[in-house]
Amino acid sequence: MTSPRILLIVGGGIAAYKACELVRLIRKGGGSVRCVLTEGAQHFVTPMTLAALSENEVHTSLWDLKNETEMGHIQLSREANLVVVCPATADLMAKMAAGIADDMATTLLLATDKPVLAVPAMNVRMWLHPATQRNVATLKADGVTVLDPDEGPMACGEYGPGRLPEPPVIWDAIQRLISSDPFVSSEVETPGVLAGRHILVTAGPTHEPIDPVRYIANRSSGKQGYAIAEALAKLGARVTLVSGPTGLPAPAGVNRVDVETARQMAAAVDAALPADVAVMVAAVADWRVDTNADQKIKKDGTGAPPALSLVENPDILAGLGASDKRPRLLIGFAAETEKVVDHAVAKRERKGSDWIVANDVSGDVMGGDTNTIHIVTRDGVESWERLPKADVARRLAARIADELV
Ligand code: CTP
Repeated sequence: MTSPRILLIVGGGIAAYKACELVRLIRKGGGSVRCVLTEGAQHFVTPMTLAALSENEVHTSLWDLKNETEMGHIQLSREANLVVVCPATADLMAKMAAGIADDMATTLLLATDKPVLAVPAMNVRMWLHPATQRNVATLKADGVTVLDPDEGPMACGEYGPGRLPEPPVIWDAIQRLISSDPFVSSEVETPGVLAGRHILVTAGPTHEPIDPVRYIANRSSGKQGYAIAEALAKLGARVTLVSGPTGLPAPAGVNRVDVETARQMAAAVDAALPADVAVMVAAVADWRVDTNADQKIKKDGTGAPPALSLVENPDILAGLGASDKRPRLLIGFAAETEKVVDHAVAKRERKGSDWIVANDVSGDVMGGDTNTIHIVTRDGVESWERLPKADVARRLAARIADELV
């Protein structure tokens, strides 16, 4: 087994600068990269920058290959495990779809027999244009994996789909493509961008017993926390998932520790330390019953309900925030039904965490499959569009990876 060899073709768009970050991530993740720049790309990044980052020769012209007598350009495309086009501009994808080979990049793309991943980035109108959409469909039909661009404000001042996904998301897609292709996966190993990191995730509700048959609980399903644990493990992290009662299966590659009450969760969190990152997604019950009855509490016949006296549970997140074993990156969640961001900003301070991921749970979020979140950091607030919980998890995992590298 060897580490993955990526042939990175950089197209000529403003997002080309992010190719530098991608090269850094691939190298950090144990892969090697050889870069090819189109004529346009050289207006945005220099061959020198990419040569320094990749520690490999950078190719720009069909005519600069020394061994052209031995079909050097074919050699170059064959020695890679995977070809990545990033950014894939509208022009480059049009040429790929049409089979045009009029420069180094397009010649390599036509000559390769390896899987190709295209990461589009362009102005929103260019992306939505029927010609581009037709080309994307053609590329997909030809077996090229085309990532969806991100949505958001663009360098040109417009808003919409067309932004290059963040480099950790691209590196994640590269690894998924490698592992899903049996020919490639049998040749390479990918340690993942979070390899060597230990990440602690709490998830689910806690159950606070009243007596042997009754308990205090909440509506948390555990889905978001489990999805986050899974996404972090996929990026190579060693993940400990401390979970309240959920009924969900443990995600692949995650070490799950089952607990029931807040106090058990606090003890399991403490036992799992040290960790590089803690993501506290659990909806921990704020209170427990002072003395939980040994026997089932019976109605006494008078119609008077039993008096339950509640005491506050330990705040696990705040405890970690103040502890000398505090992880380098501490992330809390805030389930709010009103003034979502205001409460989250206050909660970040109060709990001593680096980020608070706030979600509005006034709708059907708890137990549902989508989530709208705002990430409150010391630098401000990032609001994400409503997304499936799995996508929230993948983006958050990529954001965490970005923070650590
Ligand atoms: N949390 C925790 N231990 C607790 C309560 C909460 O670790 N006993 C964590 C949750 O996992 C979450 C964050 O704290 O990451 C926010 O929880 P939340 O219940 O929204 O905050 P509260 O402290 O209950 O604040 P408030 O009552 O003002 O909503």
